This record gives sequence, structure tokens and C-alpha cells, in this order.
Amino acid sequence: MANVIVIGTQWGDEGKGKITDLLSRSADVVVRYQGGINAGHTVVVNEQTFKLHLIPSGILYPQTECIIGSGTVVDPQILLEELEQLHRLGVSTDNLFIAETAHVTMPYHRLIDKASETQRAEHKIGTTGRGIGPTYADKSERVGIRILDLMDKDVLQKRLRWAVEQKNIVLEKMYDLPPLDPQEVITCYTEYAELLKPYVVDASLKIDEAIRKRLNILFEGAQGTLLDLDHGTYPYVTSSNPIAGGACIGAGVGPTTIDRIIGVSKAYTTRVGEGPFPTELNDCTGELLCDRGAEFGTTTGRRRRCGWFDGVIGRYAVRINGLDCLAITKLDVLDELDEINVCVAYELDGQEIRDFPSNARVFAKCRPIYKSLPGWKASTQDCKSLTELPLAAQSYLKFLEDLLEIPIAIVSIGASRGQTIIVEDPIHGPKRGLLNV
Ligand code: IMP
Ligand code: MG
Repeated sequence: MANVIVIGTQWGDEGKGKITDLLSRSADVVVRYQGGINAGHTVVVNEQTFKLHLIPSGILYPQTECIIGSGTVVDPQILLEELEQLHRLGVSTDNLFIAETAHVTMPYHRLIDKASETQRAEHKIGTTGRGIGPTYADKSERVGIRILDLMDKDVLQKRLRWAVEQKNIVLEKMYDLPPLDPQEVITCYTEYAELLKPYVVDASLKIDEAIRKRLNILFEGAQGTLLDLDHGTYPYVTSSNPIAGGACIGAGVGPTTIDRIIGVSKAYTTRVGEGPFPTELNDCTGELLCDRGAEFGTTTGRRRRCGWFDGVIGRYAVRINGLDCLAITKLDVLDELDEINVCVAYELDGQEIRDFPSNARVFAKCRPIYKSLPGWKASTQDCKSLTELPLAAQSYLKFLEDLLEIPIAIVSIGASRGQTIIVEDPIHGPKRGLLNV
């Protein structure tokens, strides 16, 4: 058995959905440990496209148990829509479980998220507007409403009435918005509670049972390393911890439980929302990446900013997550390029720096230093093994491995399940060797 964390190494949208789908095949339990409906996974199975925000894609495997962990924030309305979508497509959700300690997104969270972005003007973050930040803020403020509060009618009545009254002051006085009707919100969430009740569990205990049975558990992160609240490009980050360390907190397991950490990375880089992005391409190559990669957000439909692979960020992701191996996705998007750049270091005030700066203002001033590699100008989409890839594509992957000092276990060359090259067994194959010190 092996317990594995899968995380994004960039700014999210690395193609984690496809890789977790692939790994879910051998997982007994999949746990989503942070984030909310700001995330979006697109999974293509037998020509059917599934768009999921909160429910782990593992739900598509009938035997796999899927747990929405304590560290997530749950928007009941969207969750219920996802359940309906799955039921309509004939997918059973009997194996879905929701942590009773997860926090719940309320209508006022969404309103405040959008209104505060407008008010921030040029300081805006470019959030998904889904109320994620305000939900986590209430969690830290200790005024949040949890799934277990939803399940208790009296508690819900009391807490929600008080909460709506408090937030109405904020809505009216700070944002000049009309107040919410507390009773309407209570009635609506009481209905949601009824519908969600069958799924609610003590998630940490449930995961512990799986650990004791030596089942295979996959911990699925949302967003990516650079959107981490503590270790990302603050303030242009999300409000939870997508990095590997966040898995233990969000799932409620100890660090000794984890056997493997797999990082997912695009063969280039994208970012949605505001904030610095040294390798961004504001030219026709950026447009080509966006068009070939269909780089539009699953959640907001926003066009993603595109750029070259950033090795400084890659090395940082290896360090901050303690990655064992990498999955490289969307290699095929580079198929038509004559020449491909990889950022190997930054230039900062005339100095070369190789380590990601923790000071985001310093990061914003960094300019990329590129190593230029030849393109392969051939389709990789039907390749079945590493050796079937054009030599220049193999060299590109080898270059990334050497730069990041980490083995590449998986290469993805298209959206469907079949378009995946397994280079090494990502779970039982070689781990990143610890550097001799
Ligand atoms: P929030 O998570 O909605 O508060 O947004 C904060 C930042 O994280 C914004 O730049 C969003 O675009 C970004 N973000 C949040 N979720 C995702 C995701 O799943 N993929 C990519 N970017 C995301
Ligand atoms: Mg996404």
C-alpha cells in the first residue's frame, strides 16, 4: 500500500485532474484536502467531459471512496449541482463523504469576495469570486459555519441568523449593497443540509480506518504551490495551503502517513488572476500556447496567461513540497514550436539568482534567464513510450529532470486517458534521491 499526495507545482491548472484520475485507478480512497469551488477539474472519459469543482474525480471509479476533507470549504449549492450532474450521467455517489468539520460558503461570502475585489481596484487579486477567501477568513476569525453546524437545525438557526445580521452591516456599510434576509438564507441552507446529510462523516476517523486497513490513499490538492497562502506569491494567492504540508492538516492525518509526493507540472507555465509571472509571453507564442493548450479557466472561463517553463519555480516546488517525482502534462502543446525556452535562473539587479525569492516584491523584479532548446516540430499525441517521442522532446524532458533534480514519472500528451506515457511507476518507482550532505 502507499499513501500519495498529488499537488500542482505552478499556479494551478497543471492538469492535476487527469493525473489524479489516472492514479485514482489504484487508489481505494481519494481525499481532497483544501480549497473549494475555486478549483476546477476537467476529466474526459469515453468522450464524456466531466467538470468538477469540489468532488474528487476519483468518484468516476465505482470502488473508490472520495472524501471532501476538513481543510476544504464547501459551497452546498454547487456541490449539489455536481451531485446532480454525476447522477444524470449515471455515476453513483454512494462513495462520497464530506468532513463535518469543513467550513461552509454562504451567500454573503460570495458577495463580499466580489465587492472587496472591486474596492481593491488596482490592488485586486483576481480571485475567482466564489467566496473562498471570505469563507477561510471567517474560519480564522472563528465565526465560520461548519458542516456540523448545518446538520443541527437549532444551532444553524441561531448561528446563521447572527452571522447574516453581522455580515449585513458589512454589506451595507462597507460595500453599499442591499442586506440579505436571514430567514431566506436559513431556509435555503436547511434544505441543503437535508440533502447533504447522508454524506457527512468524521473524515479524519474515516481516513484513519483506511490507513489501518492498509488501503491506498490519494491526497488530492487543488490550486498549486505558488498560490499557497504561506509559501506562494502573496498576496496574489488563494486562502488555503495547496502545498504537500497542507495535506496532513486538511485531511487530519499525521505526516508519517505519507509515502509519496507527486508534483504535476505543465511543460510550460500558466497563471490566472493578477500577480508577477516572470516567464509570461505577451506575444504570438503566448497566444499559440493558449490556443493549443485551450487555456481557459474551468471555473471562471478566464483566459489564462501563458509563458515558458520556469525552472526556478520548479526547483522551489521540489523543495517546498519535498517532491519525489514529477508528472509533466501538455507536452503536446509545444509540438509546433521551432525553439523552446526554459527559464534556468533569474536576473535581479545585475545578479543571477537560482533560488525562488520568498519576498514577492523581489520576485516581481526578477527577469528570466533562458536556455533555448530545439523544438521537435512533430506530433507527440500518439506516442506510447518515452522512446517513441521525437529525440528533441526526450531531450527537453531530460533537461527538466536535470534542472529540477527529480525523476519524471509520467508524461501527458493529450487530454484523454490513453494519451499518457508512464515512464516510471510514480508510486513504487524511484524516489528523488536525497542529496548527500
Ligand atoms: P481565490 O482562490 O478565488 O480567492 O483566488 C485567488 C487567486 O487564486 C486568483 O489568482 C485565482 O485566479 C487563483 N486560483 C484559485 N483557484 C484556482 C485554480 O483552481 N486554478 C488556478 N488559479 C486559481
Ligand atoms: Mg483548474
